[in-house]
Amino acid sequence: MAAKSIMDFDTVALDDEGDAVVIIDQTLLPGRIELISLRSAEEIWNAIYLLKVRGAPAIGVTAALGIYLLSNRIHTEELDEFYLELRRLRDYLNSARPTAINLSWALNRMEETALRKGRLEGLSVDGIKKALRDEALIIRSEDIETCRRIGENALTLVKPGDGILTHCNAGKLATIKYGTATAPIYLGHERGYNFKVFADETRPLLQGARLTAFELYSSGIDVTLICDNMSASVMSKGLVQAVFVGCDRVAANGDTANKIGTSVVAAVAEHYGVPLYVCAPTSTIDINTRTGEDICIEQRPAGEVTEMWYKERMAPEGIKVYNPAFDVTEHGLIAGIVTEYGIAHAPYTESLKSIMDKKDGKTDEA
Ligand code: MRU
Repeated sequence: MAAKSIMDFDTVALDDEGDAVVIIDQTLLPGRIELISLRSAEEIWNAIYLLKVRGAPAIGVTAALGIYLLSNRIHTEELDEFYLELRRLRDYLNSARPTAINLSWALNRMEETALRKGRLEGLSVDGIKKALRDEALIIRSEDIETCRRIGENALTLVKPGDGILTHCNAGKLATIKYGTATAPIYLGHERGYNFKVFADETRPLLQGARLTAFELYSSGIDVTLICDNMSASVMSKGLVQAVFVGCDRVAANGDTANKIGTSVVAAVAEHYGVPLYVCAPTSTIDINTRTGEDICIEQRPAGEVTEMWYKERMAPEGIKVYNPAFDVTEHGLIAGIVTEYGIAHAPYTESLKSIMDKKDGKTDEA
């Protein structure tokens, strides 16, 4: 029997007994594929904070399944008491990482389901718990279809043989299947497009080297790993026809928060006339955040820069370290925002609003 590849494992799933969220521990990749079961609120919080599970959509799915699991441990028949405890757990999980809106998006959707089922439809606490399980599994399966549709839309922006650069990991490991920025790459691969992919290694946590290069290479895709400071080199040689990146939050004006370094790639791409596309499920679009300046950017521990991954510390003891996990790419540097409902172009304030209206069933146009 052929050895299993990383593509054969679920990024996030509910276990068969329905009492644990099972994730691939992504901090161990690519060296070791190890599944871990999360049961308590602290285990779920830590897995998100420590990036054992990461990537905006995967974080959202983990939180949705997680809050369902935790709701089963609330032992009361009293609706108000149940809601109070559910909200406490929601707030706790929501505090794990601040930038990716999918975390609060998924948790809010779960809470709204609980409120609707109890207050409007008159379900008992037990009935609400069953509804929460259904909703979490819907969020999980919707993610697969959303990414596939993003992939189909993004595929219209490139042609066979193109060079594609991507930053961080907006791949299968950041979602349930396909990824967002990698969805056109996977779909194109199935259709014989022969893309030449460049994966930025993505300092300091190396999601590009450890995760994107790993999953694309395991899938038989032509992928070349480059350091973060090499994008100008490959673009200046005409090796890249498009950049596809993911996102953690898109503001109403199209400014986009994504992994630190994305804005550098965007500036370089602009310089060399290479279009940069942001692949964004509508769950990542935050119409209530006006511009990129209003997005909270997570700061991470200094050790990620000075010593993590190195055999020995690679910076002087006591050195000041600046370690934001994300940066904001200004909307002017983005050639298009690819969603499951179509591609938004500038002016984004209008185009993103029509995408969201389309999603909410208010119009047919995007
Ligand atoms: O810190 P991470 O690894 O969670 O950052 C992930 C990214 O920046 C991804 O590009 C983003 O979440 C989109 S994943 C489809």
